[in-house]
Amino acid sequence: MSLQATQDEAMRRRRPNHAERTAQTHAAFLLPHLRPGMALLDMGCGPGTITAGLAAAVAPGMATGIDLDPPPMPPAGVQIIAGDVTDLPHEDGSFDAIYAGALLQHLADPLLALREARRVSRPGAVIGVADADWDGELLYPTNAVLRRSMRVARKLRQGTSPFVGKQLRHLLTEAGFVRVEASARAGHHGTPDETRQFGAFTASLFRYPAAAQRAIAQGWAMAHELEEMAAAWEAWGSHPGAFVARFWCEVVGWVE
Ligand SMILES: C[S@@+](CC[C@H](N)C(=O)[O-])C[C@H]1O[C@@H](n2cnc3c(N)ncnc32)[C@H](O)[C@@H]1O
Repeated sequence: MSLQATQDEAMRRRRPNHAERTAQTHAAFLLPHLRPGMALLDMGCGPGTITAGLAAAVAPGMATGIDLDPPPMPPAGVQIIAGDVTDLPHEDGSFDAIYAGALLQHLADPLLALREARRVSRPGAVIGVADADWDGELLYPTNAVLRRSMRVARKLRQGTSPFVGKQLRHLLTEAGFVRVEASARAGHHGTPDETRQFGAFTASLFRYPAAAQRAIAQGWAMAHELEEMAAAWEAWGSHPGAFVARFWCEVVGWVE
């Protein structure tokens, strides 16, 4: 596996709470546009818990999830296949509805995936895309080590799209969708469990072997500094006043 591929894998680490995501918490903006009988594709579906809620909304239509790394045990009522969203294995015009949640931020070229989404959409199909944008993040408390760790994390995300959220309306339009409407909500972590989980997940990036090797090789930080960063995130996670919030941008659009 190339260094870049290994690095992408580090960036795609799943948060432990991904499997707690549901269609109600992460795709509420799309649900009103789904109808029974639709064929739906969930691009970059991860564990498939959101897909399961989308499947319930389109039943008896079929919901299919696709992911580079599909779960071994998909939820009931959902078919999940292994595949790359930038080269979908489906015929043109296969789906009435498409969802992509927290996917585009992990891609080097999000437009490529959206053009594929447009290709496999039928006339009249609806698409809903949600992605976090790392700009405008609120973090408390903070300190020099955490600030530096965030600069290193941004460098480690080179080759992905952490600032895609604000561009979603533009990118869907570029891909050929029409009547594209954008909105945003705040994702937040503000309970002891949530901040501990967020701190531990962020810490794990600086201990992920491929990420650490790259940061050291590029001269972004030394091994002991990466360990300090990881420890600082763990300490942040158990601070009684810790809070983090980040924008989640959401768009819906249609095929003419
Ligand atoms: C942050 S997770 C989001 C999972 C789920 N949509 C959710 O919101 O919980 C991103 C997912 O995209 C998948 N992914 C990243 N690049 C991909 C690609 N090129 N093709 C298919 N899946 C991809 C990863 O394997 C991962 O499961």
